[in-house]
Amino acid sequence: MEKHHVEELISEEAVNARIKEIGAQITKDYEGKTIHLICVLKGGSFFMCELAKRIDRPVSLDFMSVSSYGGDTKSSGVVRIVKDLDEAIEGKDVLVVEDIIDSGRTLSYLLSMLRDRKPASLKLCTLLDKPSRRVVDVTVDYTGFEIPDTFVVGYGLDYDQIYRNLPYIGHVVFDPEEKGE
Ligand code: IMP
Ligand code: MG
Repeated sequence: MEKHHVEELISEEAVNARIKEIGAQITKDYEGKTIHLICVLKGGSFFMCELAKRIDRPVSLDFMSVSSYGGDTKSSGVVRIVKDLDEAIEGKDVLVVEDIIDSGRTLSYLLSMLRDRKPASLKLCTLLDKPSRRVVDVTVDYTGFEIPDTFVVGYGLDYDQIYRNLPYIGHVVFDPEEKGE
């Protein structure tokens, strides 16, 4: 890990308030339906728990894990399924819950794979979006916050697996190298 520190970008209060709004919107949009939430591990887990509690509809949950990143802050462009879903999604109203959309590679791959399994509907909800970084087009149905091109951590997001438990969104500031004598 390079020498760095974390500065707050979005406060815990602001994140929680926004999740409450999205939950209310989803509650409205899915009237009369059961929502099958799919959490993209590990980053989406904190967001999914908070969001699920704010949705006033029957909800079922499943988890999957794909990886496009190593211990680095840059996209490798390689998407790999690390853990598949436990249950079939055919005929279900599926809502994928993701932490952040960056290049869009992970989600575009994942959504096309899920679409092939014939859900009744398939939507995407992300806590954060970095639209300026998009390489592959993805339609996002619910977005928490659009953020600039900066590396963020907290609320499920990591830097080399650390900082997922920060209750706010921070951005990583890399400290200049100290010059030796
Ligand atoms: P994409 O395929 O480039 O859209 O990458 C999406 C994935 O990269 C996310 O699910 C995150 O796991 C990771 N990622 C992208 N940007 C950040 C960031 O700023 N902080 C932490 N993880 C990130
Ligand atoms: Mg992720």
